[in-house]
Amino acid sequence: MPPICAPSSDSSASSGSGARGWIFHGLALGAAAVAAAAAAFLYRRPAGFRSRAVGIIPARFASSRFEGKPLAPILGKPMIQRTWERVILASSLDRVGSERCCEALNKLDKHYDIVVNIQGDEPLIEPEIIDGVVMALQRAPDAVFSTAVTSLKPEDAFDTNRVKCVIDNQGYAIYFSRGLIPFNKSGKANPNFPYHLHLGIAGFDSNFLKIYPKLPPTPLQLEEDLEQLKVLENGYRMKVIKVDHEAHGVDTPEDVEKIEALMRARNIQ
Ligand SMILES: *[C@@H]1O[C@H](CO)[C@@H](O)[C@H](O)[C@H]1NC(C)=O
Repeated sequence: MPPICAPSSDSSASSGSGARGWIFHGLALGAAAVAAAAAAFLYRRPAGFRSRAVGIIPARFASSRFEGKPLAPILGKPMIQRTWERVILASSLDRVGSERCCEALNKLDKHYDIVVNIQGDEPLIEPEIIDGVVMALQRAPDAVFSTAVTSLKPEDAFDTNRVKCVIDNQGYAIYFSRGLIPFNKSGKANPNFPYHLHLGIAGFDSNFLKIYPKLPPTPLQLEEDLEQLKVLENGYRMKVIKVDHEAHGVDTPEDVEKIEALMRARNIQ
């Protein structure tokens, strides 16, 4: 996944001022829906551990292979708007914002216990997955980070853009890799092994998020180019939920065509 909470100064995002303009416009459009969702949720929120959650969709996500990705139209609507419309359906979120995590947290007046970072390039993300990631952090006090995996498709086994994850028998992450893990000595993906594909969603404890950007980069993080490894290499625990999800991350313009075909087949407008 791209930088979760990097200072904005080292951003290499490719979206220009047009993209930002849209995002603020989108925020205004979404405000009424967010207010309604938040109001409905006030009646249901448990007074428990880490009870207040905010969802963040990074406003600038870089892609060297797909210029202007956040605004790429998917059946007529910009991709980031499609993601937004899914995220505001998550009942565990008190608020949704479209900015960099740390910047957003600093600007938010109220205190949130959990910050959920939702990639803008998963326009078919299910709101239930967001709720699951929030609940995982509420139920695992020793974890500072939560995320989700789904079944890896055999054709994605050796695709380095698809990140694999191995977890322990309590559901905590052991390692993430762009390579196939675990690796079968046959050199092929074992059709009988349930490999996990990492999804682009992350929940943080907000106290951890304050120290996280100050932690220096770690060797495995740099070698794999996977930011989530910094959490594990520093000895923090990460809770992983398994979900049923057809992953439709958009990495290239061709992925847009695939996702549109799927949406047409499923009658999604
Ligand atoms: C490796 O994969 C094969 C199938 O491809 C499977 O039969 C075998 O049990 C796996 N594990 C080992 C250690 O070979």
